[in-house]
Amino acid sequence: MACTCVVGLQWGDEAKGKIVDLLTAQHDIVVRYNGGANAGHTVVKNGRTYKLSLIPTGILAPHMQAVIGNGLVVNPVRFLEEVDALRAAGIPIDGGNLLLSDHAHVIFPYHVEEEKLGEEASAAAIGTTGRGIGPCYQDKVSRTNGIRVGELLHPAHLRERLRSIVPRKNAVFRALMPSAQQFDADALCDEYLTHAGKLKPHIHDTALFLHRALQGGKNILFEAAQGSLLDVDHGTYPFVTSSNSSTAGIWPGSGVPARHLQRVVGVIKAYTTRVGRGPFPTELTDGPDGIGERIRKTGREYGTVTGRPRRCGWFDTVAAKHSARLAGADELAVMLLDVLSVVDELRICTAYELDGKRLDEFPGDAFLLEQCRPVYETLPGWKTDIERARGPGDLPAAARRYLDRLSELLSLPVTIVSVGPDREQTVFMT
Ligand code: IMP
Repeated sequence: MACTCVVGLQWGDEAKGKIVDLLTAQHDIVVRYNGGANAGHTVVKNGRTYKLSLIPTGILAPHMQAVIGNGLVVNPVRFLEEVDALRAAGIPIDGGNLLLSDHAHVIFPYHVEEEKLGEEASAAAIGTTGRGIGPCYQDKVSRTNGIRVGELLHPAHLRERLRSIVPRKNAVFRALMPSAQQFDADALCDEYLTHAGKLKPHIHDTALFLHRALQGGKNILFEAAQGSLLDVDHGTYPFVTSSNSSTAGIWPGSGVPARHLQRVVGVIKAYTTRVGRGPFPTELTDGPDGIGERIRKTGREYGTVTGRPRRCGWFDTVAAKHSARLAGADELAVMLLDVLSVVDELRICTAYELDGKRLDEFPGDAFLLEQCRPVYETLPGWKTDIERARGPGDLPAAARRYLDRLSELLSLPVTIVSVGPDREQTVFMT
């Protein structure tokens, strides 16, 4: 029995989906434990591109059962859209291979409106994905307004809950902005009961399902969403998402006890990206002809969910060391190394400077990180196409040196290197 977690060590979009896909052969069940349809996972398999937001990417392997754990916030419309898209692509989906926790929380349209009002009104807007993630988690924690997936199966109860919640939401929205959207509890209830009929075969007590699977010797793969630096407790607060996107989210978000986790693959991009607002010390802001733009174009660095251009910058070992420790990472998967082939000379941030002093550890607060200046070391680039590399020996010496330096600075072995989106474009280093 083995439990593995694939977790991003930066601000998300580390191409975790490809690593999940590579590891499915050794696992039986794949579990998402945090977030919702704010995640965007792209997997290229057999020449076909799959884009998933809510459903674990591991479902693309025919033998896998996929679980959407209790730690998620689920928009039923998005769930059903993804199911339809997978079926249209020839992936069979039913209640047996896609399980949805009865304790996951439900996103309603008023959550999306609430987020819009909050982001528009605030000078300290976070630059969220606009999917209602934060407000739904707020309702979960505040308890009086939270609705869980299992409640959708009880029509009279659901109607009563919505009749109590919706007028209060409407009143708050009106007070914030007279033109704010208003909602009708009964209409929402009718709509969500229709969704519930389609969700029903998938709804399970997934914590119990996972406990039984562990007892039966099954191997579980946890698929984190977002990156560890967006973790609500350990990331660059307040510019974070509303869940525990590091491995810290596994236990509350799935119900699987911590001691079962045996392997943590920390996924990093060979450089750094970030979408939305928040501090980013190594960001390249060198204009339309600069290296930042070259990386963005070559790496197709545009948000999967929102289409926003991602901010691009050099690799930051201070940040990645912090999240690797937090994750308990055993090894590193370095993604998109091929993108750096367009750069003549590479930089790696090895420390920060704050108030004239060197800082080797990651400050836990955004307002401090904003004042940090990166300290760089420079390495030669390789300026040659590496997309066809399949073994460590195929990589140019400068690329191996770059990987060795990342490994040394993070005190972790690099086991997998990705040199392109296809499954075959992978170098196993050991
Ligand atoms: P939210 O998760 O929509 O509340 O957004 C909070 C912050 O997390 C914003 O900066 C988003 O851009 C960022 N974010 C959320 N999901 C992802 C993701 O899957 N990849 C990268 N950034 C994300």
